[in-house]
Amino acid sequence: MFSSRGAGIIRRCFTTLETYCPPSWAATLSNTPSHFVKLCQRNTPIRDWTLPGLPSGFSLSIKRDDMTGSTLSGNKVRKLEFLLADALVKGSDCVLTCGGIQSNHCRATAVAARELGLDCYLFLRHKEENTNIGCSGNLLLNHLMGAKIFLVPNERYTSGLKPRMEIIAEKLREKGRVPYIVPLGGSNPLGLYGYISAFQELIEQKVLENFDDIVLCIGSAGSAAGIAIGNYLTGSKVKCHAVCASDNAKNFYEHINEELDAIGMDVKAEDIIDIVDGYKGKGYGISTKEELELIVRISSLTGIVLDPVYTIKSVRGMLSEMNANPSRFKGSRVLYIHTGGVYGLYDGRMDDVVTEMTSNSIREWKDSLDNPPQLH
Ligand SMILES: Cc1ncc(COP(=O)(O)O)c(C=O)c1O
Repeated sequence: MFSSRGAGIIRRCFTTLETYCPPSWAATLSNTPSHFVKLCQRNTPIRDWTLPGLPSGFSLSIKRDDMTGSTLSGNKVRKLEFLLADALVKGSDCVLTCGGIQSNHCRATAVAARELGLDCYLFLRHKEENTNIGCSGNLLLNHLMGAKIFLVPNERYTSGLKPRMEIIAEKLREKGRVPYIVPLGGSNPLGLYGYISAFQELIEQKVLENFDDIVLCIGSAGSAAGIAIGNYLTGSKVKCHAVCASDNAKNFYEHINEELDAIGMDVKAEDIIDIVDGYKGKGYGISTKEELELIVRISSLTGIVLDPVYTIKSVRGMLSEMNANPSRFKGSRVLYIHTGGVYGLYDGRMDDVVTEMTSNSIREWKDSLDNPPQLH
């Protein structure tokens, strides 16, 4: 494990702050970030996607933001380019952030912070009594990055996390450290720039005219808001939809409206994005058997792996709305943005479903070469 002293040496080696110039269409926004750090592999590919269950009349493509990196992957990487740059500009030597026990945001922050030589403190929501959280899924990467973890009871999650981060930040300051707090999901006016710049990437990929609608998942609102802002400011004619994986449309509209105010935009969230409720299933982070089976079906037929907490819920929602409520879409050519989350698949929840669904795909071949097993 690196000591903070060791991390300081590494930080000096790897700091790669670059000056940020917003796209011309975003130049009038207030609170423009001054710098970014390059963490994201771009441009992420866009491909046709023959999703099972896609109703006839619709065509679908997918932007692979699950491919923004490997251990450092998914939508959060784009936000962290701005948030961690801000941390470095402010001379911070450690970052604090929070989320669920399998938070992709926390894992991405832990990886990016370590790459930049910053220590990382994670405040993770945990419903069990014991502190043996194991090392499945995103937790393994948090541990590999040397992140220091505080477990926070579930029920105190919303009210208790921010003050707890502030208390620990104060303790770190007393020790001469310079902490930087990244908000839940990286969703604040600075984090918004992750998907404002992703919208610019879509422009540079020259694909926008190929689509009528863009769909993605919403969990803390930053990614969907960034896309909707880009779409509005550029006068692009695409309609943006965000399917809730947590919370509800009313609260997300409220949150996005606050962010629009903070960056000086005179438009209502309700007028620039369609937030789709009704597909959280049993609730945030809870999977139904049907959702898990759909993950297996989609990956085994298309090679695209969705995650159980975010993307499967948004894809189910998108398919359902296409079938039951097609007029909700502006047209028939849809781009789905895959926001990542693959490590959430490794927390054990898939085991029973995958074992059941794939039992017929395994053959034992113990005997001689003259006695091959039946083909599948
Ligand atoms: C894989 C994945 N997809 C989507 C989201 C939602 O993105 P946002 O928090 O920007 O709404 C998150 C995080 O919350 C995520 O980890």
